[in-house]
Amino acid sequence: MSSILDFNTSINSDFLHANGESGTDLLIDKLNIQGSEKIVEFGVGTGGTLIKLKSKYPTIHLTGIDASHKMLEAARKRIKFCGLKNQIELIHSNDKNTIQENSIDIVYIESVLGILNQKTLKEVLFFLNKILKDQGTLVINESIWLDSVSEKEIDFINEKCKKLFGIRQCNIEFKTIDDTIKYFHDLGFKNQSCKRIRKTDTNIKRGKTITELRSKVFTSFGKLKLLYSLKLKNQEKKYNAEMTTIFEEEKEYLTGVIMVFKNSNYL
Ligand SMILES: C[S@@+](CC[C@H](N)C(=O)[O-])C[C@H]1O[C@@H](n2cnc3c(N)ncnc32)[C@H](O)[C@@H]1O
Repeated sequence: MSSILDFNTSINSDFLHANGESGTDLLIDKLNIQGSEKIVEFGVGTGGTLIKLKSKYPTIHLTGIDASHKMLEAARKRIKFCGLKNQIELIHSNDKNTIQENSIDIVYIESVLGILNQKTLKEVLFFLNKILKDQGTLVINESIWLDSVSEKEIDFINEKCKKLFGIRQCNIEFKTIDDTIKYFHDLGFKNQSCKRIRKTDTNIKRGKTITELRSKVFTSFGKLKLLYSLKLKNQEKKYNAEMTTIFEEEKEYLTGVIMVFKNSNYL
């Protein structure tokens, strides 16, 4: 198992970001979908959000991009299981340039930017600036470090996470909300709003479509593997034990934020 992401792919984990599915519901509220937009998700994971969005807004044109073939395969299986085959396009990130410049209305991203290295992060935002229409919308659901966490701690956590889980926890480019706004501004994205997600925001009860319920069944089939695969069970135990060597139990390190940007093609 090369990284914690591969492990999560094997067990069909979805909503791999701050505040899980509730975070996604809050992100979807911010997309302001009218019905026929061209929408791209960057870094789809196993596709939980793709299903939620397409089942709520069947007339959108939805494309998902990911750098992991395994994740894309899991997302493809989820889409088929949910009866949405051929209704959501999936693209490997190596082929992302097949998307036309200036053609996309909305891009959204959940917990991807924070794990990218500096060079890839810039390349990705440059690419999104290119494919989004002028005044197109970019919405991110990412984590940022709490003020109480020092840069020294962040370096320690990121080094350990890279070594033990194959990915960093969260980059330092987005240390504060102001840093994040400036970083995006310099790459062509004007901030419209920023919401720090609080526990009370995640208590809202929402109805689910039948397709979303099917997606939940797909996730549960993956989780069942933990009952009969000794390899996966041991891997889970190992990751849980390693977490305790990095994070203190009672301490909070990160907070989820949802930020909305308007694209401007002035670059
Ligand atoms: C933490 S997971 C989040 C997945 C999904 N957005 C979610 O919230 O469940 C990060 C995802 O980003 C993908 N990823 C990492 N680097 C990427 C890149 N350079 N281009 C596209 N996807 C990437 C990973 O393969 C993984 O699926």
